[in-house]
Amino acid sequence: MKRLVDKLREKHELAPDEYGALLTMRNPQDVDYLMSQAREEAQRQFGKGIYLRGLVELTNVCRNDCLYCGIRRSNSNIERYTLTREQVMDCCEQGHQIGFRTFVLQGGEWGEERSPWIAEIIAKIRQRWPDCAITLSLGEHPRETYAMWRKAGADRYLLRHETHNERLYSLLHPSGMTARHRLQCLDWLKELGYQVGAGIMVGAPFQSLKTIVEDIQYLIRFSPHMIGIGPFIPQHDTPFRRFPAGTVDMTARLYAILRLALPQALIPSTTAMASLSPDSRLRGILAGANVVMPNLSPTDTRKQYALYDNKAALGAESAQGIQKLADELATIGYHIEWSRGDHPNAKQAE
Ligand code: 5AD
Repeated sequence: MKRLVDKLREKHELAPDEYGALLTMRNPQDVDYLMSQAREEAQRQFGKGIYLRGLVELTNVCRNDCLYCGIRRSNSNIERYTLTREQVMDCCEQGHQIGFRTFVLQGGEWGEERSPWIAEIIAKIRQRWPDCAITLSLGEHPRETYAMWRKAGADRYLLRHETHNERLYSLLHPSGMTARHRLQCLDWLKELGYQVGAGIMVGAPFQSLKTIVEDIQYLIRFSPHMIGIGPFIPQHDTPFRRFPAGTVDMTARLYAILRLALPQALIPSTTAMASLSPDSRLRGILAGANVVMPNLSPTDTRKQYALYDNKAALGAESAQGIQKLADELATIGYHIEWSRGDHPNAKQAE
């Protein structure tokens, strides 16, 4: 097993069954070796600094109906909200004062009629804080919309591909949505000069070792600037309510494998990780993750942004808990790195 880890670190790639072996190995010493190599690689690239991204949950209104997601259109048990422009600016203002230099506007998928409104918000943030990175996480849209937002000042876009496997994709999503189109969106975003994030949920219903390996291979081919991976966590109002959650162990292994495959990638230890248990976020960092995304949303709308059950939103997940986060990081010898944290290959803004 150690030989496989060394090979991955050196060649940044393995054969499919070799990834399978790393994902299923049982010997704790082998797992520790994978983690330590990934950690070492992350430290070689980024030192012991962890980048922060301030997450603003813009809206839980969504036209889409993904079977895993708590803000899916057919969930009539949640109250829908959309932040006003002033609320968004206030969240960023608070974040900026704390020291955040990246804002992530995340939300459900809206119809295109709202896209110009988003562009206006982007332009306002860009104008007010020229030194900050603006990241969007707003789902699938036409190329023109992505281009408009880019022109308005957005730098980065997070769109998990969810899975490269067409069949699995169709089991997780409503009819009409395809992996092919998802990947098309990611290609467009890259062409438009965004720093792009892709990724998957670990332990999603019907996922298999085979599809995970396909997704690792896709990620290596696509080579996104950012890789967003978290465990699937069931949400009680969705068709997947009775499926078990993904595991911290498997998620951490994927962080480690992808750190070794794509050494410069920005990999967050995600909120879903932190939601499973209090020490999981640190386990993610010790597996090679180098980003944390605290929540800057107004506290009263956070519970309505219920992608999954028991989502961590207060504690060290929140901007208000930043000292707690710093203290936690210090226990493993890490610290917050306050700069924007662009990917080394990021295109410079025009
Ligand atoms: N469990 C974990 N992650 C989820 N997401 C959506 N629903 C869930 C869930 N039940 C993730 C998806 C999406 C991102 C914004 O949140 O991967 O891309």
